[in-house]
Amino acid sequence: MSDDHAHVQEFFAARAAGWDTRFPDDGPAYEAAVADLGLREGDRVLDAGCGTGRALPPLRAAVGPSGVVLGADLTPAMLEAAVRAGRGREGRLLLTDVAALPLCSESLDAVFAAGLIAHLPQPEDNLRELARVVRPGGVLALFHPIGRAALAARHGRRITPDDLRAEPNLRSLLSASGWRLTSYADEDARFLALAVRSN
Ligand SMILES: C[S@@+](CC[C@H](N)C(=O)[O-])C[C@H]1O[C@@H](n2cnc3c(N)ncnc32)[C@H](O)[C@@H]1O
Repeated sequence: MSDDHAHVQEFFAARAAGWDTRFPDDGPAYEAAVADLGLREGDRVLDAGCGTGRALPPLRAAVGPSGVVLGADLTPAMLEAAVRAGRGREGRLLLTDVAALPLCSESLDAVFAAGLIAHLPQPEDNLRELARVVRPGGVLALFHPIGRAALAARHGRRITPDDLRAEPNLRSLLSASGWRLTSYADEDARFLALAVRSN
């Protein structure tokens, strides 16, 4: 296991049990972000860095019983909390690094990733791996239930121009990793960038 993985697992293992109670009012924001992904009945979708699986119920509702919902996470304690919360009934949970997914190329219609990108050690390579598993024309949502400035303030920081999620930086990063940014919203109440898998 790499130092990056160990750090992520240690950080989130300490927070797993209290994760959902810490942010009890986020449900509607997840539902709205999933709605913006434009999923259809029968689609196949991955929640990358699914944590306790908060997005899995709206993802399942969007694709219906004939769809496929996968939740992938590196931290066993987050997936254990997902199981305790009953989220394993909404989708299949995978203990895996999203940088090396055990999935066939072009096997998915969409990837949803909430709160993930800041934790990726090699964002360009890692986003390219997400592109690999999505069919051309498939979609990616990079979501956070609060905006960049509010999140930085929560951590006692300010956002700087080199922030990975600043629009010009994210546009270039996505473009270099097989995605085309199609919409970008950075508001107090949410961050949501949508991208389409390039051909
Ligand atoms: C901020 S939490 C967000 C969890 C969940 N998406 C949510 O919105 O509640 C980030 C999650 O990403 C996971 N993660 C970070 N790097 C990862 C990687 N390389 N592969 C898989 N999961 C990863 C962490 O274990 C953690 O559960």
